[in-house]
Amino acid sequence: MPQLNILVGTMYGGALDVAEQVKPLFEAAGYTVSIKEQPVVEDVKEQALTLFCVSTTGSGDFPGNFVPFVRQLKDQSPALTELNYGLIALGDSSYDDTFCGAGRSLDAMLEDLGAKRLGERLEVDAMETFMADDAALPWVETWIDEQSLKVA
Ligand SMILES: Cc1cc2nc3c(=O)[nH]c(=O)nc-3n(C[C@H](O)[C@H](O)[C@H](O)COP(=O)(O)O)c2cc1C
Repeated sequence: MPQLNILVGTMYGGALDVAEQVKPLFEAAGYTVSIKEQPVVEDVKEQALTLFCVSTTGSGDFPGNFVPFVRQLKDQSPALTELNYGLIALGDSSYDDTFCGAGRSLDAMLEDLGAKRLGERLEVDAMETFMADDAALPWVETWIDEQSLKVA
């Protein structure tokens, strides 16, 4: 079975919860799924398909567990031309200018390194969606369909 990694950046567990909830959808689509709570750059270097679930803290900042991964991306500038990814960003629109800042920065960083985003980024606004899963589950179902990701 092909491997799919879900890389998680979270402060309070919401993004991890999303990863755990969507994992069975990918398993049903034919993937072996690993959730990475302490991601490293090797997780994306050899990988064809990756989903990121990343919340924002501070003022548009990455959650602490995700900072080493971002630092490695910046320091090593790996060529990620083989990487196709989806991105679920968690945030809160009451933070105005920094809404989903971490997810948006990550998206720009991955694009600069040659990775290809499949479909649009999902931005889950805590002001509108109390449980991020409520937005993430249908989004992932549609994503798998529209991007023809089903392998089994
Ligand atoms: C101290 C703090 C700072 C935050 N800063 C931002 C921010 O700059 N931009 C944003 O969109 N959301 C911000 N948020 C909202 C979180 O990203 C949002 O609640 C998210 O769902 C948390 O996900 P998590 O449980 O995975 O950490 C902040 C939340 C807290 C508590």
